[in-house]
Amino acid sequence: MRIGMYDSGVGGLTVLAAFVRQMPYHDYIYFGDTRNAPYGDRSPEEIRQLSAAAIRRLEPHRLDALVVACNTSASVAVDTIGRLCSNLPFFTLVSASARAVREIGATRIGLLATRRTVEAGVFEREIRSACPQADVLAIPAPALVPLIERGYRDRRIYEPALNEYLVPLKTWGADAVILGCTHYPLIRDYIQEWLPESVLIDPADWLARDLRKRWPEPPPGKTGSISLSASGDREVLCSFWKMVEPKSIDLVF
Ligand code: DGL
Repeated sequence: MRIGMYDSGVGGLTVLAAFVRQMPYHDYIYFGDTRNAPYGDRSPEEIRQLSAAAIRRLEPHRLDALVVACNTSASVAVDTIGRLCSNLPFFTLVSASARAVREIGATRIGLLATRRTVEAGVFEREIRSACPQADVLAIPAPALVPLIERGYRDRRIYEPALNEYLVPLKTWGADAVILGCTHYPLIRDYIQEWLPESVLIDPADWLARDLRKRWPEPPPGKTGSISLSASGDREVLCSFWKMVEPKSIDLVF
């Protein structure tokens, strides 16, 4: 299958990595809107326009499916996406998160996400409809994406922001926390250290697992490929990809 995927920038590579680990045999065409990232503090209208432009960029690739890696786009622009993808199956991480919550059986759910994702309330609605007994505490975490984008690996740099965002979740007693932004799996260990009692949900793992069961198996011996493209500097994507999934760098063209 030819799977298109887009994100505001590098963060969606964590989603791509989850897919490649589960289904290395597909052909992935990834677009990172690095020139316009981050989306998380942009106006809803801008996010809708940028999402439409990203989809148009992927359209000529004759896709079999589209994965909206960016949660801000999926939360704010789902109607736009639906209109543009009337003949193309598309998937977001929102319903995968709700399924994860239901399967884990969690009832006090933390959501960490960008400001616009939290404001849109789409994750909360989906979780509440899948698990009516669930309580959701959504925390906007705007300081994390810029730090992760800069590639910082020193955990001390993240401490003030993690303290601000995670202490409320800890005090509240979240039994599961959704990593509701593509970038957060890159600092998953730091988040887990702050929240040792909470199960961290990376929705990309759940969506990839789910689709592996639903999509057809490839012919024997089929190898996959990964095409990375960006509206800005493509090299940034390649160097993040080496960090996220070093084993499959040979698949990239
Ligand atoms: N990719 C975005 C998301 O998952 C996070 C980064 C941004 O603000 O653009 O929400």
